Amino acid sequence: MIRRHSRSAIFMHWSNAVCWIFLLFSGFALLDNPTMQPVGQFWVDFWNGLAGGAFNLLNAHVVVGCVWIALYTVYLIFRFKGEAWPFIKEITDLHPASDMTWCMRKGLRLTIGENMMRKMGMATELPAQSFYNAGQKLAAVAAVLSSIGLAVTGALMVYMAGKPGTEELLQWCVLGHFLCAGLMAIVLPIHIYMAALAPGEGPALRSMFTGFVPKAFAKVHNPLWYKKLGLDKKDDAAK
Ligand code: HEM
Repeated sequence: MIRRHSRSAIFMHWSNAVCWIFLLFSGFALLDNPTMQPVGQFWVDFWNGLAGGAFNLLNAHVVVGCVWIALYTVYLIFRFKGEAWPFIKEITDLHPASDMTWCMRKGLRLTIGENMMRKMGMATELPAQSFYNAGQKLAAVAAVLSSIGLAVTGALMVYMAGKPGTEELLQWCVLGHFLCAGLMAIVLPIHIYMAALAPGEGPALRSMFTGFVPKAFAKVHNPLWYKKLGLDKKDDAAK
């Protein structure tokens, strides 16, 4: 087995997931405007009923948002150099041609299947990936950017609420907050399916609890990372 995620990264991932899902669900319920409500009026009624009114729901949304920001602030203070910065470097290590090929072929493999791709004369092999595959990198970049957008606009809205002269900036913050949340409402189901539920991803899901992936899994899914760890040389030496 190889260590893939540290304990602190696992804790941050799952606390982040709980906060995000609550914030996304309750946030959409706060859009009590039929022209902007993407789910439907039943969603607003359901959450308002659960919280005991729109005011309580807004308070719960703000409290969970503040807890989420506080957790990240502490994490970044203590783990910036060791974990957050290497993570940023890894997800921004983009290779446009090979990343696009990976996304297209992976998408086709999951939809029409490899047999159909071969019948249509298409190549099915995926370009070799490093610690994160191209899809994970794109999802993570979207998550980081929208997290910054949500935290900044959310904090500004709380700070400015009720202050005269801030109405216009407040409107821009509402729009920015809504666009960031909208982007993640699209990216998250894809992330959850691709990282945890898609065929063959069982070891990746288990690694988000145990921290470890089997060597054989890393060799197939993340061959460039496997090589970076020097494990391919060890395999050759053991032959
Ligand atoms: C039920 C919800 C979720 C499930 C089942 C899930 C599943 C996973 C799994 C299995 C991995 C590991 C992938 C690997 O090792 O290659 C992962 C990584 C990741 N997930 Fe999620 N995820 C969920 C929610 C979220 C949310 C809400 C976000 C952010 C908004 C998120 C952001 C990330 C990021 C940035 C990584 C890479 C982190 C790292 O490697 O330390 N996930 N997720």
